[in-house]
Amino acid sequence: MNKRTVLIAVIAIVCVFALIATVRSFFLKPSDKTRISAIPEGEYDPAVWGRYYPLQYGSFQKNLQMSASATDFGGSVKFQHSLRQPEILTNFKGMAFSKDYMEDRGHPYALTDLKETKRITLQSPGACMTCKSAHLIDIYKSMGWSYAKTPLGQLFAKMKHSITCANCHNPSNMELRVVNPAFIEAMQRKGVDVTKATREEMRSYVCGQCHTEYYFEPETTKVILPWDKGFHPEQVYTYYTEKPKGFEGDWLHPDSQAMMLKAQHPEFETWAGSTHAKAGISCADCHMPYMREKGKKYTSHWVTSPMKHIDASCRRCHPEEEKWLLDRVKTTQKNVWGLQHMAGTLIARAHEAIGKALAAPGANKDELEKAKENLRKAQWYWDFVAAENSMGFHNPSQTLNILGQSIDLAHKARESANKPAGPPKP
Ligand code: HEC
Ligand code: HEC
Ligand code: HEC
Ligand code: HEC
Repeated sequence: MNKRTVLIAVIAIVCVFALIATVRSFFLKPSDKTRISAIPEGEYDPAVWGRYYPLQYGSFQKNLQMSASATDFGGSVKFQHSLRQPEILTNFKGMAFSKDYMEDRGHPYALTDLKETKRITLQSPGACMTCKSAHLIDIYKSMGWSYAKTPLGQLFAKMKHSITCANCHNPSNMELRVVNPAFIEAMQRKGVDVTKATREEMRSYVCGQCHTEYYFEPETTKVILPWDKGFHPEQVYTYYTEKPKGFEGDWLHPDSQAMMLKAQHPEFETWAGSTHAKAGISCADCHMPYMREKGKKYTSHWVTSPMKHIDASCRRCHPEEEKWLLDRVKTTQKNVWGLQHMAGTLIARAHEAIGKALAAPGANKDELEKAKENLRKAQWYWDFVAAENSMGFHNPSQTLNILGQSIDLAHKARESANKPAGPPKP
């Protein structure tokens, strides 16, 4: 080989390596390049983590911004939902959501908002902090589930930081992890060992820890995720029908005297049956898209409405124009909102009709029992949509289907309530 051939060979080899490195950097997950860490377990201050991971921390700080979403439904501007849906005041009569029902905002506010909401007091069960702070990790380690029954006021003293890096990451290697014991136990009951989950699964599990329906077990007030029969709202309803450990419902409605269920933000369950989930698309794909800054690729930690950055969130997979994608989302949400509002309003009328029938002399007991059962289920379906935060986008077809059922059940409840009472008993 002459010198020239060697030189060309060397240049060729260098070029091939450079090309491989460039291609790898495009396809590689960013975490492979940043796995250095001296953050101790128990460090919950995001600023300390931020010294090692400035790009992720910089985007995480954007969670403090409060801005509306172009869809009119999402966004992080505080407002009371009952202004837009006065039916909330009737449907949640006798329980805390009729007093205070604010729009959600960014993760750094979770602990502050917990302290500020009129729904709880310092005497409320400690279980309420499960999804509000990374300090859950230490509290659960030292107290086990007994924290769930401890008055919240006592736990506040142990909590300084809101939801932070430690809720989703192991500090020693930055692997994704789940720390909420309720999530780990619910998955175990479904036969899923979360420590063996794939990276793709973890990109949704970290969110599913908190963005889910739950209830408090009677006596212990332990947090339970009701997934034993499946994620579909009908399966969850069946689960509740069996009164697990004596749990009959969240509260008794003062007008209709129906034992009601309160649905809580079932984003994970709604997503679970969606086209996107079936195609393997995780919460993080839309809510934590890849970004580039100074030539570096990283995962955005600004966890907010994806419609604030449609290009990064959607156009990676959907080549359509931003405006077209926004219109798709808005159309779905508008259709869902229309039926949701209709269902909620009919349910409010049903509570009133049953309340009136109960007060009438010689009420038809059998019909009223039927009315109450139909109303309980109607409200569960309605609330499964109303309490979910995407206004149906996460799973449009399932959402419209359960709203249709809700409307039918609410009509049936009213019909039963309006059936004339039988002849007076002798
Ligand atoms: C295919 C993309 C996509 C996936 C996957 C996805 N979301 Fe969303 N999400 C959206 C869109 C779009 C909205 C509506 C935002 C709006 O109206 O501005 C939304 C709204 C939300 C909201 C309310 C945001 C707000 O501004 O108030 C939350 C919370 C949420 N999603 C959580 C989740 C969780 C948890 C998962 C996984 C279980 C998930 N999302 C999966 C696209 C997605
Ligand atoms: C709500 C969950 C959640 C929180 C809170 C969170 N992360 Fe992440 N983080 C993720 C997800 C999801 C990924 C993507 C991981 C993957 O795909 O392997 C990620 C990836 C990373 C990576 C790998 C490199 C990259 O950009 O993909 C680093 C480093 C990181 N996060 C740092 C942080 C820091 C620092 C904080 C706190 C300031 C934090 N994270 C808070 C969920 C979270
Ligand atoms: C430790 C519990 C917890 C985890 C983990 C968590 N969230 Fe949240 N999330 C919350 C709470 C609580 C709020 C509402 C905070 C408030 O309003 O004060 C919230 C709010 C949000 C919002 C609304 C933000 C806005 O701008 O309105 C979105 C979107 C969201 N979460 C998506 C996600 C996604 C996606 C993941 C996973 C990558 C995730 N969350 C992980 C508890 C959690
Ligand atoms: C990682 C890839 C990926 C991302 C990110 C993604 N999608 Fe999709 N989306 C898909 C796939 C795959 C389907 C299934 C149908 C298909 O092949 O087109 C789909 C289906 C859809 C549908 C039709 C089905 C339905 O549920 O209504 C809409 C609308 C949609 N996406 C909008 C969005 C929007 C808006 C975003 C951003 C917030 C987004 N998608 C983000 C891959 C993605």
